[in-house]
Amino acid sequence: MPSHPPNTITTADTDITFRPGLWSQKKMATLYDVAVIHGTYPLLWGCPWTQPARLYQRALRPGLTVLDIGPGSGFFLDRFAPADLKLHLLDRYSGSLTAAATRLARYRPALHTGDALDPLPIESSSVDLVILGMVLHCVRGQDIAAKEAVFDHINDALKKDGAGEFIGYTVLSHGVRHGLLGRLGLPLLNRKGVFANTGDSLTDLVKALDARFDIVELTVRNSVVLWQVRTR
Ligand SMILES: C[S@@+](CC[C@H](N)C(=O)[O-])C[C@H]1O[C@@H](n2cnc3c(N)ncnc32)[C@H](O)[C@@H]1O
Repeated sequence: MPSHPPNTITTADTDITFRPGLWSQKKMATLYDVAVIHGTYPLLWGCPWTQPARLYQRALRPGLTVLDIGPGSGFFLDRFAPADLKLHLLDRYSGSLTAAATRLARYRPALHTGDALDPLPIESSSVDLVILGMVLHCVRGQDIAAKEAVFDHINDALKKDGAGEFIGYTVLSHGVRHGLLGRLGLPLLNRKGVFANTGDSLTDLVKALDARFDIVELTVRNSVVLWQVRTR
Protein backbone atom coordinates (compact mmCIF):
# COMPACT_ATOMS: atom_id res chain seq x y z
CA MET A 1 0.00 0.00 0.00
CA PRO A 2 1.20 3.59 -0.58
CA SER A 3 3.48 4.93 2.12
CA HIS A 4 2.70 8.58 1.35
CA PRO A 5 -0.16 10.46 3.03
CA PRO A 6 -3.46 10.32 1.08
CA ASN A 7 -3.43 13.69 -0.66
CA THR A 8 0.28 14.18 -1.25
CA ILE A 9 2.46 12.59 -3.88
CA THR A 10 6.20 12.68 -3.58
CA THR A 11 8.48 12.59 -6.59
CA ALA A 12 12.25 12.65 -6.68
CA ASP A 13 12.45 16.40 -6.93
CA THR A 14 9.13 17.82 -5.87
CA ASP A 15 6.01 17.41 -3.77
CA ILE A 16 2.68 17.97 -5.42
CA THR A 17 -0.31 18.39 -3.16
CA PHE A 18 -3.47 17.06 -4.73
CA ARG A 19 -6.76 18.84 -4.41
CA PRO A 20 -8.91 16.06 -2.95
CA GLY A 21 -11.87 17.12 -5.11
CA LEU A 22 -10.04 16.49 -8.38
CA TRP A 23 -11.35 12.93 -8.69
CA SER A 24 -14.34 13.29 -6.34
CA GLN A 25 -17.14 10.76 -6.61
CA LYS A 26 -19.61 13.48 -7.62
CA LYS A 27 -17.41 14.80 -10.43
CA MET A 28 -16.66 11.31 -11.66
CA ALA A 29 -20.31 10.32 -11.65
CA THR A 30 -21.73 13.51 -13.17
CA LEU A 31 -19.01 15.16 -15.26
CA TYR A 32 -16.39 12.64 -16.31
CA ASP A 33 -18.20 11.05 -19.26
CA VAL A 34 -19.24 14.39 -20.75
CA ALA A 35 -16.09 16.40 -19.98
CA VAL A 36 -13.43 13.74 -20.55
CA ILE A 37 -14.68 10.77 -22.57
CA HIS A 38 -16.80 12.85 -24.95
CA GLY A 39 -14.70 16.02 -24.41
CA THR A 40 -10.94 15.90 -23.90
CA TYR A 41 -10.49 12.46 -25.54
CA PRO A 42 -11.44 13.77 -28.99
CA LEU A 43 -10.87 17.52 -28.57
CA LEU A 44 -7.48 17.62 -26.84
CA TRP A 45 -6.04 14.25 -27.76
CA GLY A 46 -7.64 13.52 -31.12
CA CYS A 47 -8.81 10.10 -29.97
CA PRO A 48 -12.57 9.43 -29.94
CA TRP A 49 -13.76 7.00 -27.24
CA THR A 50 -14.70 4.52 -29.95
CA GLN A 51 -10.96 3.85 -30.40
CA PRO A 52 -10.34 2.41 -26.86
CA ALA A 53 -13.81 0.86 -27.05
CA ARG A 54 -12.43 -1.54 -29.68
CA LEU A 55 -9.89 -2.82 -27.15
CA TYR A 56 -12.58 -3.56 -24.59
CA GLN A 57 -14.85 -5.21 -27.15
CA ARG A 58 -12.07 -7.52 -28.30
CA ALA A 59 -10.73 -8.42 -24.86
CA LEU A 60 -13.85 -8.82 -22.70
CA ARG A 61 -15.39 -12.29 -22.65
CA PRO A 62 -17.81 -13.97 -20.24
CA GLY A 63 -16.27 -15.60 -17.19
CA LEU A 64 -13.02 -13.64 -17.13
CA THR A 65 -11.33 -12.32 -13.99
CA VAL A 66 -10.69 -8.65 -14.79
CA LEU A 67 -8.70 -5.97 -12.98
CA ASP A 68 -9.43 -2.37 -14.03
CA ILE A 69 -6.78 0.00 -12.65
CA GLY A 70 -8.06 3.59 -12.55
CA PRO A 71 -11.62 2.85 -13.72
CA GLY A 72 -12.72 6.52 -13.57
CA SER A 73 -16.49 6.61 -13.98
CA GLY A 74 -16.71 2.96 -15.10
CA PHE A 75 -17.94 4.06 -18.54
CA PHE A 76 -16.29 1.37 -20.68
CA LEU A 77 -17.03 -1.67 -18.52
CA ASP A 78 -20.59 -0.48 -18.02
CA ARG A 79 -21.01 -0.39 -21.78
CA PHE A 80 -19.01 -3.36 -22.99
CA ALA A 81 -18.61 -5.93 -20.19
CA PRO A 82 -20.60 -9.16 -20.46
CA ALA A 83 -22.93 -10.15 -17.63
CA ASP A 84 -20.62 -12.54 -15.83
CA LEU A 85 -17.22 -11.16 -14.87
CA LYS A 86 -15.18 -11.47 -11.71
CA LEU A 87 -14.22 -7.84 -11.34
CA HIS A 88 -11.53 -6.08 -9.32
CA LEU A 89 -11.35 -2.27 -9.33
CA LEU A 90 -8.24 -0.49 -8.05
CA ASP A 91 -7.80 3.26 -7.79
CA ARG A 92 -5.63 5.70 -5.91
CA TYR A 93 -8.63 7.91 -5.22
CA SER A 94 -11.70 6.84 -3.29
CA GLY A 95 -13.92 9.21 -5.33
CA SER A 96 -13.24 7.41 -8.61
CA LEU A 97 -13.36 4.02 -6.95
CA THR A 98 -16.77 4.69 -5.41
CA ALA A 99 -18.20 6.18 -8.60
CA ALA A 100 -17.09 3.19 -10.68
CA ALA A 101 -18.14 0.69 -8.01
CA THR A 102 -21.62 2.23 -7.85
CA ARG A 103 -22.04 2.14 -11.63
CA LEU A 104 -20.72 -1.42 -11.84
CA ALA A 105 -22.45 -2.69 -8.67
CA ARG A 106 -24.12 -5.48 -10.67
CA TYR A 107 -20.71 -7.25 -10.78
CA ARG A 108 -20.22 -6.94 -6.99
CA PRO A 109 -16.63 -5.81 -7.68
CA ALA A 110 -13.79 -6.30 -5.20
CA LEU A 111 -12.53 -2.80 -4.38
CA HIS A 112 -8.91 -1.88 -3.73
CA THR A 113 -7.53 1.54 -2.86
CA GLY A 114 -3.95 1.74 -4.04
CA ASP A 115 -1.40 3.28 -6.35
CA ALA A 116 -0.53 1.58 -9.63
CA LEU A 117 3.13 2.04 -8.70
CA ASP A 118 2.77 -0.19 -5.64
CA PRO A 119 2.50 -3.99 -5.61
CA LEU A 120 -1.08 -5.01 -6.39
CA PRO A 121 -3.23 -6.50 -3.62
CA ILE A 122 -4.13 -9.36 -5.98
CA GLU A 123 -2.97 -12.99 -6.02
CA SER A 124 -0.12 -13.64 -8.49
CA SER A 125 -1.09 -15.22 -11.85
CA SER A 126 -4.82 -15.03 -11.05
CA VAL A 127 -6.14 -12.42 -13.50
CA ASP A 128 -7.17 -12.95 -17.15
CA LEU A 129 -7.32 -9.29 -18.18
CA VAL A 130 -5.83 -6.08 -16.79
CA ILE A 131 -7.07 -2.70 -18.05
CA LEU A 132 -5.04 0.52 -17.64
CA GLY A 133 -6.99 3.19 -19.53
CA MET A 134 -5.75 6.79 -19.49
CA VAL A 135 -3.95 6.19 -16.18
CA LEU A 136 -0.23 5.99 -17.03
CA HIS A 137 -0.10 9.72 -17.88
CA CYS A 138 -1.41 10.43 -14.34
CA VAL A 139 1.12 8.15 -12.61
CA ARG A 140 3.98 10.13 -11.11
CA GLY A 141 7.41 9.66 -12.64
CA GLN A 142 9.74 11.68 -14.83
CA ASP A 143 9.41 9.25 -17.74
CA ILE A 144 8.13 5.78 -18.65
CA ALA A 145 11.26 4.15 -17.22
CA ALA A 146 10.37 5.60 -13.81
CA LYS A 147 6.89 4.03 -14.09
CA GLU A 148 7.99 0.53 -15.15
CA ALA A 149 7.01 -0.95 -11.76
CA VAL A 150 3.41 -0.56 -12.94
CA PHE A 151 4.05 -3.09 -15.73
CA ASP A 152 5.89 -5.47 -13.39
CA HIS A 153 2.96 -5.54 -10.95
CA ILE A 154 0.46 -6.06 -13.77
CA ASN A 155 2.58 -8.89 -15.19
CA ASP A 156 2.70 -10.49 -11.75
CA ALA A 157 -1.10 -10.44 -11.37
CA LEU A 158 -1.77 -11.89 -14.85
CA LYS A 159 -2.00 -15.57 -15.79
CA LYS A 160 1.12 -16.61 -17.71
CA ASP A 161 1.93 -18.30 -21.04
CA GLY A 162 -0.37 -16.16 -23.15
CA ALA A 163 -3.40 -16.70 -20.90
CA GLY A 164 -3.16 -13.18 -19.50
CA GLU A 165 -4.01 -10.10 -21.52
CA PHE A 166 -3.24 -6.45 -20.80
CA ILE A 167 -4.93 -3.58 -22.62
CA GLY A 168 -4.25 0.09 -22.11
CA TYR A 169 -4.05 3.55 -23.58
CA THR A 170 -2.33 6.74 -22.48
CA VAL A 171 -1.48 10.24 -23.65
CA LEU A 172 2.22 10.55 -24.44
CA SER A 173 4.37 13.66 -24.73
CA HIS A 174 6.88 12.37 -27.29
CA GLY A 175 6.64 10.23 -30.42
CA VAL A 176 2.97 11.01 -31.03
CA ARG A 177 1.17 13.80 -32.90
CA HIS A 178 -0.39 16.63 -30.89
CA GLY A 179 -2.92 19.09 -32.25
CA LEU A 180 -3.01 22.72 -31.15
CA LEU A 181 -5.30 22.09 -28.15
CA GLY A 182 -3.19 19.14 -27.07
CA ARG A 183 0.01 21.21 -27.26
CA LEU A 184 -1.64 23.87 -25.07
CA GLY A 185 -3.30 21.40 -22.69
CA LEU A 186 -0.32 19.15 -21.94
CA PRO A 187 1.87 21.67 -20.07
CA LEU A 188 -1.15 23.07 -18.25
CA LEU A 189 -2.32 19.66 -17.02
CA ASN A 190 1.24 18.78 -15.97
CA ARG A 191 1.61 22.08 -14.10
CA LYS A 192 -1.66 21.45 -12.27
CA GLY A 193 -0.53 17.95 -11.24
CA VAL A 194 -3.39 16.25 -13.13
CA PHE A 195 -0.92 14.67 -15.57
CA ALA A 196 2.69 13.58 -14.96
CA ASN A 197 3.76 12.67 -18.48
CA THR A 198 6.27 15.31 -19.59
CA GLY A 199 8.92 12.62 -20.21
CA ASP A 200 6.63 9.82 -21.49
CA SER A 201 7.70 8.70 -24.97
CA LEU A 202 6.48 6.11 -27.46
CA THR A 203 9.97 4.58 -27.74
CA ASP A 204 10.22 3.98 -23.99
CA LEU A 205 6.69 2.62 -23.77
CA VAL A 206 7.26 0.11 -26.56
CA LYS A 207 10.56 -0.92 -24.94
CA ALA A 208 8.90 -1.43 -21.53
CA LEU A 209 6.01 -3.46 -22.96
CA ASP A 210 8.24 -5.50 -25.27
CA ALA A 211 10.56 -6.42 -22.37
CA ARG A 212 7.70 -8.09 -20.50
CA PHE A 213 4.89 -9.04 -22.89
CA ASP A 214 4.17 -10.18 -26.43
CA ILE A 215 2.71 -7.21 -28.26
CA VAL A 216 -0.48 -8.15 -30.12
CA GLU A 217 -1.34 -4.66 -31.33
CA LEU A 218 -0.05 -1.16 -30.74
CA THR A 219 -1.78 1.80 -32.36
CA VAL A 220 -1.10 5.52 -32.21
CA ARG A 221 -4.12 7.76 -32.62
CA ASN A 222 -2.84 11.37 -32.53
CA SER A 223 -1.75 12.04 -28.88
CA VAL A 224 -2.74 8.59 -27.62
CA VAL A 225 -1.09 5.19 -27.85
CA LEU A 226 -3.29 2.13 -27.41
CA TRP A 227 -1.98 -1.38 -26.80
CA GLN A 228 -3.06 -4.98 -26.45
CA VAL A 229 -0.38 -7.39 -25.15
CA ARG A 230 -0.22 -10.95 -23.82
CA THR A 231 1.85 -12.57 -21.10
CA ARG A 232 4.77 -14.92 -21.78
C1 LIG B 1 -8.21 9.91 -16.66
S1 LIG B 1 -9.01 8.78 -15.57
C2 LIG B 1 -9.22 7.34 -16.63
C3 LIG B 1 -10.55 6.66 -16.39
C4 LIG B 1 -10.90 5.50 -17.32
N1 LIG B 1 -9.99 4.38 -17.12
C5 LIG B 1 -10.88 5.91 -18.78
O1 LIG B 1 -10.36 5.15 -19.60
O2 LIG B 1 -11.46 6.95 -19.12
C6 LIG B 1 -7.65 8.29 -14.54
C7 LIG B 1 -8.08 7.29 -13.47
O3 LIG B 1 -6.88 6.81 -12.83
C8 LIG B 1 -6.95 7.02 -11.42
N2 LIG B 1 -5.56 7.23 -11.00
C9 LIG B 1 -4.78 8.34 -11.18
N3 LIG B 1 -3.54 8.12 -10.74
C10 LIG B 1 -3.50 6.84 -10.29
C11 LIG B 1 -2.48 6.02 -9.73
N4 LIG B 1 -1.24 6.50 -9.53
N5 LIG B 1 -2.78 4.75 -9.37
C12 LIG B 1 -4.06 4.27 -9.55
N6 LIG B 1 -5.06 5.00 -10.08
C13 LIG B 1 -4.79 6.27 -10.45
C14 LIG B 1 -7.92 8.19 -11.27
O4 LIG B 1 -8.53 8.24 -10.02
C15 LIG B 1 -8.92 7.86 -12.37
O5 LIG B 1 -9.85 6.88 -11.96
